[in-house]
Amino acid sequence: MGSIETVGIVGFNVMGAAIGLNAASCGYRVIYKELNDELVRTTYDRWVKSGLEKRVAKGKMTQAEMDKVTGLISGTAGYKDLAPCDLIIEAAVEKMDLKIQIFKDLDKFCRPDAILASNTSTFLIEKLMASVSHPSRTAGLHYFFPANINKLVEVIRQKETSDETFNALMAFSGKNNKVPIAVNDFPGFAINPVFISSYMVLVAFCGDTYSAATLDEISKQALGVRYGIMWVLNNSGLGTAYHAAVSMNDYLADSDVGFPLVPEPLKTQFEKGKPWDLEGGPMVDDPAVLNVVKERLLGSVFTISTHLIEKRVVSLKDLELGIKTALAWPKGPFSMMNDMGMAEAARLVNMTVESGTFKRPKIFAEGVPSAWEL
Ligand SMILES: NC(=O)c1ccc[n+]([C@@H]2O[C@H](COP(=O)([O-])OP(=O)(O)OC[C@H]3O[C@@H](n4cnc5c(N)ncnc54)[C@H](O)[C@@H]3O)[C@@H](O)[C@H]2O)c1
Repeated sequence: MGSIETVGIVGFNVMGAAIGLNAASCGYRVIYKELNDELVRTTYDRWVKSGLEKRVAKGKMTQAEMDKVTGLISGTAGYKDLAPCDLIIEAAVEKMDLKIQIFKDLDKFCRPDAILASNTSTFLIEKLMASVSHPSRTAGLHYFFPANINKLVEVIRQKETSDETFNALMAFSGKNNKVPIAVNDFPGFAINPVFISSYMVLVAFCGDTYSAATLDEISKQALGVRYGIMWVLNNSGLGTAYHAAVSMNDYLADSDVGFPLVPEPLKTQFEKGKPWDLEGGPMVDDPAVLNVVKERLLGSVFTISTHLIEKRVVSLKDLELGIKTALAWPKGPFSMMNDMGMAEAARLVNMTVESGTFKRPKIFAEGVPSAWEL
């Protein structure tokens, strides 16, 4: 395994194009693969040509810089053109069978020492790579939307991933001006279990008492965020949010972690094909009524975060950093617990566990733990 100089991207749309453009802007040669010649052309025109021309027109990039980046990017509809790549990042549609087939094809056409990584949001890396030869060169490289702006990258080790592969991907992410965190293979990895369970708990309250606008406001107050969770769901798409909720519940509800039920209002709203109405609806201002949801939201964040570190999916420090970087929460879950005091944090965790949302993390089974070492 040599150094990474040429990067292959399979699937050059919303995520793949942003990942490829990011790498080319940092000096890497990028070869992307799309399904056919037509898509090779249209994705190039949309993301590379128009995307960069807009930046030049706005004065965010010079023509010379744009020419340098475009000179590093080429597209193909055939796997054999990915043969020179040192790293291939798969960012195709989120379908398990399709991804497994892509990795079988990459195995055939790419060098045996090329690193193969997936940007999947929900599938276990181990499953996607099951039929790849030399699995020590496989891993997950999970970027966050919008990948040209969001700095976090989860570098995911499956049990076969070698130190050499993992270290090469951590270094690659750093050289791409990203903030990489180390994560072990787990459903949704480290950040999504926290975010997805948060919106599932919040949305479950949607109804006569709590309008979507009230719930958005509660999430802002509870987490100290500028953009509320309901607003984020409107912008990232309710379809994606619903499917991710179903998938996480399938993976974890019966495990020793547990997971919230898929909230009916999320299904209904997704089926309506409309975003949440964040302007209308009665707003609650009774602090006691707001507090009911705030406590359930925070209790859920604390409980899943503690499970993730107890299961060694991620370190406490990387989860703090990851949540702040990917979700723009001003504080990570463990600093929030320390700030409110561990007795109060334990009360919220116990309330969450008693509601049946999650199983109890070990450390909270032994009374009130001492403050987290951040
Ligand atoms: N969109 C997000 O917010 C987000 C965030 C993180 C991770 N992801 C993950 O990134 C991946 C891509 O997501 P997206 O939103 O960019 O999807 P998308 O549907 O916008 O793009 C997928 C692209 O893959 C191409 N493709 C499909 N099969 C292919 C093949 N065999 N060879 C080459 N190209 C192929 C399609 O033509 C399409 O252009 C998914 O696994 C998704 O879960 C998405």
